[in-house]
Amino acid sequence: MRQSNPFKPTAGRMPPLLIGRDAIIDDFEEGLDDGPGAPGRLMRVTGARGVGKTVILTEFGRIAKARKWEVIDETASEGLAQRLLNRLAPDKPSVNLSLKPSVSIAGLGGISLGEASVSSKQMPLTLRAAMGQRLDALERKNAGLLVTIDEAQAADRSDMVAIATAVQHLIREERNIAFVFAGLPSIASKWLNDEVLTFLRRAQAEQLGDIPLQDVRDAFEDTFEDSGIAIEGKALDMAAKATEGYPFMIQLVGYHIWRIAYRRSRNIDSKKPDAITVTEQDTEQGIANALSRLGDAVHGPELDGLSPIDKTYLLAMAQDDGPSSTSTVAERMGKDVAYANIYRTRLIDAQVIKDMGYGKVDFAIPYLRQYLREHAAYIRMNSSGTSL
Ligand SMILES: Nc1ncnc2c1ncn2[C@@H]1O[C@H](COP(=O)(O)OP(=O)(O)OP(=O)(O)O)[C@@H](O)[C@H]1O
Ligand SMILES: [Mg+2]
Repeated sequence: MRQSNPFKPTAGRMPPLLIGRDAIIDDFEEGLDDGPGAPGRLMRVTGARGVGKTVILTEFGRIAKARKWEVIDETASEGLAQRLLNRLAPDKPSVNLSLKPSVSIAGLGGISLGEASVSSKQMPLTLRAAMGQRLDALERKNAGLLVTIDEAQAADRSDMVAIATAVQHLIREERNIAFVFAGLPSIASKWLNDEVLTFLRRAQAEQLGDIPLQDVRDAFEDTFEDSGIAIEGKALDMAAKATEGYPFMIQLVGYHIWRIAYRRSRNIDSKKPDAITVTEQDTEQGIANALSRLGDAVHGPELDGLSPIDKTYLLAMAQDDGPSSTSTVAERMGKDVAYANIYRTRLIDAQVIKDMGYGKVDFAIPYLRQYLREHAAYIRMNSSGTSL
């Protein structure tokens, strides 16, 4: 019988084993159990692309549901607050919450929006009323309400103000609510310096980072074994090391090694696909396949989102085998240090590179250096107007 690959290298998909996230999960569970006012009930989760933010929000949702809480999970994009409102009070059009719909629609000569929408001025109050009503019902059953917002860095300011204002009031009233928002590290500069949103700054900060390699190793061992394929010794070490603890790469490496070993097992003896151990050769090939997928899935899109000069900066860094000196990078770009520093700061904010102190920077995304070297000619060609 055909077996399905246990690894899930797809954005937002729950992994077979959620590795190395015990501390943040404990914080959240403690928050739910400690009641209103507990710090874990107001949380912001940040981290680079592919580090596992969406997955942790899903896990929080699972934990809350197991306690009979209601969970509303939203992803920030246009109309966020309105969508939240529609989900809180699905049976009632928002006008029934004793608040007025968006003004001046009729005044514009009868343009119809199809659905009653709430003006951004009214939204904080309306949302607060709707959440309060949901909580009235939930609290009667000793349950609560968890609201999670993913990709928070992409939210409109007015949506964020409405949600933060509503949640702030409900927390102050000691209602049974928890609010978690997740996003790229840029939410720190985008929302937390905004005076109206100071409330968000008080949220418990949880930064998701790499997973310790020992945990990765153990997880590989268990996940392979559960699927009837053994991985051990040198092959296991190589596999764990190749992930660099980056969650998306953990799934990619696991997926591709498993796939190769499984296919080989079916060729050997289709009746006994489980009697197999991963070889070093399977591992090498699996890692190579995982790396090329990482390039397509992470490096390519990441670079597409950067300006030509950002890319020039990265190409200049990629000439080094380890951390780069910022003055050397400026020199390679043919620019002065002050100019180069503008791009250094942008790239650090975007978590593409990291500050190593002493005037040094290094790549923050695994294997980006290698990808840049392999694709340098192509990237340079498409960053026309700049030269190296
Ligand atoms: N703790 C973990 N252990 C193992 N695998 C994980 C873990 N967290 C995430 N993954 C895997 O990593 C991949 C990326 O996870 P996820 O989509 O949650 O990242 P993200 O931070 O939301 O990324 P993005 O910023 O692109 O939205 C998925 O394949 C997921 O299964
Ligand atoms: Mg995500």
